[in-house]
Amino acid sequence: MSTNKIDGKQIAGLVTEKVKERVENLKSKGVVPGLAVILVGSNPASQTYVNNKAKTCERLGMYSVLIELDEDISEDELLKNVEALNQDDKIHGILVQLPLPSQINEDRVIATISPLKDVDGFHPENVGKMMIGQQSFLPCTPFGVMKLLEYSDVEIAGKHAVIIGRSNIVGKPMGQLLLQKDATVTYCHSRTKDLHSFTKQADILVVATGRAKMIDASYIKEGAVVIDVGINRDENNKLCGDVDFASAQEVASKITPVPGGVGPMTIAMLMENTCLAAENTLTNK
Ligand code: GUN
Repeated sequence: MSTNKIDGKQIAGLVTEKVKERVENLKSKGVVPGLAVILVGSNPASQTYVNNKAKTCERLGMYSVLIELDEDISEDELLKNVEALNQDDKIHGILVQLPLPSQINEDRVIATISPLKDVDGFHPENVGKMMIGQQSFLPCTPFGVMKLLEYSDVEIAGKHAVIIGRSNIVGKPMGQLLLQKDATVTYCHSRTKDLHSFTKQADILVVATGRAKMIDASYIKEGAVVIDVGINRDENNKLCGDVDFASAQEVASKITPVPGGVGPMTIAMLMENTCLAAENTLTNK
């Protein structure tokens, strides 16, 4: 049993308890927070995430709808679905599960979601606001990582945070949020030369490479905090992260496991964002 493991499941439970109270308060004012999830095609991993989202909504007393669309749906048809949800007063948050099939332009879909219902924080308006530190919806995974760090009493100001991965969903916003908390931020990615030389300097290392067990102890400075955003299957079809946990936990001061680390936090933050979107309908009118 390790003592340096960050228990994402437990922290997500604490976050969702608070969301539940906010949901009850909203309900007393006649508003039931509602989340719509659009799933195109039948990617099994996406289906698992989407089912978990619906279950959590139910547990917190929120309304949720799942719209399942055919793999070969046209972009126009998908956009019509998004526009209908933009107009639907029962829906406060809209999530279009990514990735989308190749006939569909993801940027156009994201730009069609009302920024007021963009609980993923992917709309350019919300991305821009996040960049300049204005209140906006924050992308759920990086937002969840920030909460994990907060609940685990990890100091951020003045620390060197190294992020491996530069996706719009995780890596890029992750760096921005850490920068806002006064970390010194380095981005690494698949074209980075001599990755070790950067990761070995990290006080906080966030790994989002999508490559199973790529980061072992040799990449990690003694005492670093290691956050593993990956979800992969290993050679035995067991869930694993982008970090080789057994090796990394020997040198890290704190480390997230997979499963049970970042994953539960992503869903918890989606619930928080949906609740916030519903609250905004009361205060912004
Ligand atoms: N696919 C993987 N992660 C995410 C996410 O956070 N939001 C959406 N919409 N799709 C995803």
